[in-house]
Amino acid sequence: MSTPGLALEAKSLSKSFGQIKAVNNIDLSMSGGEILGLLGPNGSGKTTTMKMILGILKPDSGTIAVEGIEVQKDPVGVKRIVGYVPETPQLYEFLTGLEYLDFISDMYEIPVEERKERISPFLDGLELKGHENELISGYSQGMKQKIALTAALLHRPRILVLDEALNGLDPRSAKLVKDLCKRLASEGTPILFSTHVLEIAEALCDKVAIMYHGSILANGTIAELRQTAGLPGSTLEEVFLKITGTGDLSEIVRELSS
Ligand SMILES: Nc1ncnc2c1ncn2[C@@H]1O[C@H](COP(=O)(O)OP(=O)(O)OP(=O)(O)O)[C@@H](O)[C@H]1O
Ligand SMILES: [Mg+2]
Repeated sequence: MSTPGLALEAKSLSKSFGQIKAVNNIDLSMSGGEILGLLGPNGSGKTTTMKMILGILKPDSGTIAVEGIEVQKDPVGVKRIVGYVPETPQLYEFLTGLEYLDFISDMYEIPVEERKERISPFLDGLELKGHENELISGYSQGMKQKIALTAALLHRPRILVLDEALNGLDPRSAKLVKDLCKRLASEGTPILFSTHVLEIAEALCDKVAIMYHGSILANGTIAELRQTAGLPGSTLEEVFLKITGTGDLSEIVRELSS
């Protein structure tokens, strides 16, 4: 049973690949309008968690409900209401940007007469206007990332799952995407946002779940995490170090800060 009012509720989620415990008994929940950062170094289990939420990977154990719909029971129902940008979006590069967005609109059964008004604001806001009739194969990595984000938003998802969505974006494009995320969240759309960059988590996310070796070590607002770590007034970097145990972690923190 899922808890009413929660946009996402994952309980006791685990997934192994052979001997590797990619995700180890985690709980996650989100409610409307919040941006939850899944923060952890490479290999900590962020993408695996997101793929299970989408129903792309089957958990070994645990349950996931999105807006009350259980992923294991109704994976298509969940895909209908989630917007997902994978770590490395696979686009049909022989299509133009607009043809691709039209194809995605077909998949989500968006009425033809509504498409222009849905697509246009994203082309404007993400500065893709003027490139929509060019082949995707000629797009830069950042433009591909922005088309993938637009494609994920066209069906007006009730929840967004963004896997390292700022990867490959220059500072200006990253700001456009961050601003779009903040606007969508302020309009009520919760966003699960994975990152291995501390500054992004700190700047964008209302709450942060610190993921490490498949486990969530701490979860809360940055202020709460400071409390948990007993480090009021400290940076997220110091909190991360404390929570993950101050062993030989300086290299990981350096990576998270780069
Ligand atoms: N299909 C797979 N087959 C085998 N092992 C996998 C597979 N997918 C993930 N893993 C392993 O599971 C662990 C978690 O991987 P995952 O991709 O979820 O990490 P991540 O936090 O997203 O990392 P990154 O920051 O590099 O994207 C890693 O040890 C990875 O090697
Ligand atoms: Mg990943």
